[in-house]
Amino acid sequence: MKNKITISILTVAVVMAFSSCYYDKEDLLYNGAGAVCTDSAGTVSYAQKVVPLLQQYCYSCHTGSFPSGNALMGTYAADKAMALNGKLYGTIAHSSGFSPMPKGMSKMTNCQIAVIKKWIDSGTLNN
Ligand code: HEC
Repeated sequence: MKNKITISILTVAVVMAFSSCYYDKEDLLYNGAGAVCTDSAGTVSYAQKVVPLLQQYCYSCHTGSFPSGNALMGTYAADKAMALNGKLYGTIAHSSGFSPMPKGMSKMTNCQIAVIKKWIDSGTLNN
């Protein structure tokens, strides 16, 4: 009898251990392993926080002479223009009326979107 109880406690413990591992992995997947994310507390620097994100998620398709969708990025002036016309935030936040970006990839994490939003809301500084 005592053994049975021990075994059921062990079983529960093992199941819990495995399911917690499973959720850990799921978190990692949805945050995108290796994805750049620095929190949006304090001043958000364009060069140090915004550019690395855009580089990872956008510049591959939106720089050069023929940027996808004719939406040019990759310089401060171009990124600022896209921020000011509302398309930068609209596309990454998957707002209605905008093409969801990054195209063909999963949405950026809330943390990453918050970093970019803070940069926009603080006046799209070249800092
Ligand atoms: C794999 C290539 C690819 C990536 C990566 C990508 N885009 Fe796009 N983007 C496209 C294509 C293709 C279009 C044109 C078709 C469309 O609008 O869906 C487009 C269109 C756009 C447009 C114009 C849409 C409109 O409503 O006028 C904006 C703005 C844009 N992308 C922003 C971004 C941003 C910001 C990122 C990074 C978070 C990004 N894109 C990442 C391929 C890409």
